[in-house]
Amino acid sequence: MYTPEMKELIKKVEETRPQRVGVDFPRMTPEERTEVLKNYHPDFIEEGFRPLKIGVNKGENAPQELADLLEARSRLEGVELNLEEVAYDVDVLVIGGGGAGAAAALMAKEQGAEVLLVTKLRFGDANTMMAQGGIQAADKPHDSPPIHYVDVMGGGHFTNIPELVRALVNDAPMVIKWLEEMGTMFDKEGNGTMVTAHGGGTSRKRMHAARDYTGAEIMRTLRDEAINRGVDVIEFCSAVELILDEEGKAGGAVLYNLETEEYLVARAKTVILAMGGAGRLHYQNFPTTNHYGATADGLVMGYRAGAKLAFMDTIQYHPTGAAYPPQILGLLVTEAVRGRGATFLNIDGEQFTYHLETRDVASAAIIRECVGRKKGITTPTGMVGVWLDSPLIELIHGEGAIERMLPAMLRQFSRFGVDIRKEPMLIYPTLHYQNGGLLIDEHGQSNIENLYVAGENAGGIHGRNRLMGNSLLDILVFGRRAGLHAAEKSKGVEVKKLTLDHIDAHHRELEENGVDTAGRVSPMLLPRYTHREVLETAVE
Ligand code: FUM
Repeated sequence: MYTPEMKELIKKVEETRPQRVGVDFPRMTPEERTEVLKNYHPDFIEEGFRPLKIGVNKGENAPQELADLLEARSRLEGVELNLEEVAYDVDVLVIGGGGAGAAAALMAKEQGAEVLLVTKLRFGDANTMMAQGGIQAADKPHDSPPIHYVDVMGGGHFTNIPELVRALVNDAPMVIKWLEEMGTMFDKEGNGTMVTAHGGGTSRKRMHAARDYTGAEIMRTLRDEAINRGVDVIEFCSAVELILDEEGKAGGAVLYNLETEEYLVARAKTVILAMGGAGRLHYQNFPTTNHYGATADGLVMGYRAGAKLAFMDTIQYHPTGAAYPPQILGLLVTEAVRGRGATFLNIDGEQFTYHLETRDVASAAIIRECVGRKKGITTPTGMVGVWLDSPLIELIHGEGAIERMLPAMLRQFSRFGVDIRKEPMLIYPTLHYQNGGLLIDEHGQSNIENLYVAGENAGGIHGRNRLMGNSLLDILVFGRRAGLHAAEKSKGVEVKKLTLDHIDAHHRELEENGVDTAGRVSPMLLPRYTHREVLETAVE
């Protein structure tokens, strides 16, 4: 529930609302966009990053928190492990139980490969499940993959890897069909055609959605399908290191069973990393939309084994994270809210930017309004934010539009006494997505033979900024591609003697470069939110 002071400020929003119906705020010029990004986007805060001291990307910038994990010691140090005691022996080992992992497992299984999917938490505990607004695909007469391509490249400031974007947009219509055939319930018009909407930076309406539960609906479909088709799944079992063979090719992974606390060897002819992102590292102290397990584990394991990273100096802050009520701080307010017409307003009820700017620009404009111009609204906890005028949606689309189009949002806020049909939402940018990741080619292959990467774990597709709805798309396009290719490749692979020599080499490199790891061990697996004072007084 808003405080009386906040309710008083909302009156200014109500005063300007009728003038904003059907009137678009002027878009920024390219120069204005560059200016606001340079001055206010967190990617341009130098202290947020540092050059890596070791590994294949040595000298390149990464967020401080990630660099610390990449330059930590292995969890396996001091662990007695016999690599010849193989607990699981498969053709394709898929690590990660989100959308990318599920799609990869399904396609590999369809090729006849023996597949094992292991996941740190439950199958489906992933950012996929939490994605709300939609999935892009150019499958309508007014649109085409080439137009989609131009939008993706423009959104990424033309830094994206062209072959990856080509794969993304060309596979998109087929992916929607594939999902539909498996039972995903997309929003439809009365005549059966798909409802499609705009997102920030799209030149055509191509966002397909299942209300604002799109990711949950897609994950439900994939998980059911994987279970029905008999994909072997082990939950609460995290990978902690990749295993290479004596020729330096991927040959499996060391797994850690979170329940029994045992380390187990999984040998595989090909390995697919689909371990998601890093939101729980809370770069630059931002809250996050990400699920509990998003701790960069796949980046750490891949990098240690010699896989190249790309675009690690660019992070996506979703412009609309909840800033109030405090119980939902940082949680996603789907871009579909501004896609349906809601506008950004400052403390005086003034609109300060076009509501469908790309995410990086919109985030920077909000930070400028709050930090630079001091025109944000301060909550009782000291958090600052701007209004996202959701009641405008009811004026544009008619009474009942929010309940019909955005039921998840309505519920998320009404639980804490805010009725977004009548009151605006208070929002501020929140850590949402890593634009980069382990570099892949169009088959999802990394630079290490027999190692594939898909989903948020992978990098290069989105360049320096991803557009809404292209993540649910990329996890499926590249999950499918990785699964197909890894299964095909596995037919000709003979795994040689397994080794963890690269872990010893990693430790040596840390020492040779004088890196003080200060007791850090990685991958992190689970974030630590325990209060420092509690940790200091805890009896181990
Ligand atoms: O805003 C959203 O619904 C998020 C979608 C995405 O990151 O693609």
